[in-house]
Amino acid sequence: MAAKIIDGNKIATEIRQEIKERIAKLKEKGVTPKLSVVLVGDDPASISYITSKAKGCDEIGMCSETIKLPADATEMEVMGTVDTLNKDPGVHGILVQLPLPKQIKADNIINYISPEKDVDAFTPLNLGKLMRGEEAFLPCTPHGIYQLLIRTGVNLKGAEVVIVGASNIVGRPLTMLLSQEKDGLGATVTLCHVFTKDISVHTKRADVLVVAVGKANLVTADMVKEGVVVIDVGINRIGKTESGKAIIVGDVDFEGIKEKASAITPVPGGVGPMTVTMLLVNTIEAAERAVKSCC
Ligand code: GUN
Repeated sequence: MAAKIIDGNKIATEIRQEIKERIAKLKEKGVTPKLSVVLVGDDPASISYITSKAKGCDEIGMCSETIKLPADATEMEVMGTVDTLNKDPGVHGILVQLPLPKQIKADNIINYISPEKDVDAFTPLNLGKLMRGEEAFLPCTPHGIYQLLIRTGVNLKGAEVVIVGASNIVGRPLTMLLSQEKDGLGATVTLCHVFTKDISVHTKRADVLVVAVGKANLVTADMVKEGVVVIDVGINRIGKTESGKAIIVGDVDFEGIKEKASAITPVPGGVGPMTVTMLLVNTIEAAERAVKSCC
């Protein structure tokens, strides 16, 4: 039987509908949630990501701004920008788009963002709280994946979850999130990385398989079991159509695996829209906390 297609656009729209009420309540108090994005340089993929973040804010009635710094900006200059945003009470969320140019150490910049405005949830404090299961901002892509799974009715308690790709943005925080013993979680999580000897040994065991590597066709149908739920985080541009439109595929062989899986996310239209939506959720959360702490 062909898999259910997990529609990220539909679930993202549902969540955006739910959070509109929270924005209205903040506006009644004279506060419009505001996200400030810092872009250093002009990497085309980064520009495309931040455009969708700004569009997401716009569409839902939130404020956003993009602060553009030149590709040769120094670490001190970027820190200065972050410092100004940290101190600005009108800014609720700060996002420094990664990757940063070589002369800038990303960790130094991330560590400088005020944890109360860290809507990416990249700072050591927010990641530490995630590890301990404390209330904190959740990193956007892992949170989006969690929402996709629970809103599709996937039972995570005791499930064998295999994550391929151990990045600080997706794989590692997702491992921490799904292994928590609360909120319908409690998965047994295996994290595969570049030193994993044979990923198929692990992927074949998965009830839920998450692939976040950035390699087209990394996982094929022979590497998964019947009935698996597949979340494909990859975004790979593999060429252009005759009309010049980019052809984008994920990390898994969608056509092959959809005949075997019980559910699967498409690329595009799966995880992507959820990441932006959870960023909006975190920015609203930051604005609500700011209102609470000042009144
Ligand atoms: N670059 C790619 N994904 C992300 C993300 O989620 N946040 C930031 N800040 N940069 C990114």
